[in-house]
Amino acid sequence: MSYSARDDRPADKADRYAEVEDEILAVLEGEPSRIARMATVAAMLADAFPQFFWTGFYIVDPDRPRELVVGPYQGTLGCLRIAFGRGVCGAVAAEGVTRIVEDVEAFPGHIACDSRSRSEVVVPVVDVTGTLFAVLDVDATEIAAFDAIDAEALERLMTRVFAA
Ligand code: SME
Repeated sequence: MSYSARDDRPADKADRYAEVEDEILAVLEGEPSRIARMATVAAMLADAFPQFFWTGFYIVDPDRPRELVVGPYQGTLGCLRIAFGRGVCGAVAAEGVTRIVEDVEAFPGHIACDSRSRSEVVVPVVDVTGTLFAVLDVDATEIAAFDAIDAEALERLMTRVFAA
């Protein structure tokens, strides 16, 4: 399947998520590699939403189970490692619950990988057994760029790509 960037995507955010979800699932059909799946999700989400400044995964390090290590992403240089409980990603990894942060500077312990990131949504990523193996982190340069529509769409995408 060939794929190229497009400028005719739906203006409605939920519709845009539904469209890119279908495209991601079509591209990934039959692909078992988790790395390939994460890389494809990061690339296709970043392409579908130009306002996403950083889009990617932090993976639970199998050798250091209370630590996240950066995985496939699109965007500027990300921190390499984040301890469980630190920053937004670490909080989501520790608690297993999605966080929407309207202003990262108001989030206690926020990790500033790039000071241009101002708001973010972070979603836990689990496998078919329900075990957390990563978090999806999406950052924007705008304050309050994300809401419940983003959280629900990204949670659904993570379930369909990694836990179905
Ligand atoms: N914003 C994240 C750190 C990762 S990056 O911004 C790419 C956090 O506070 O968890």
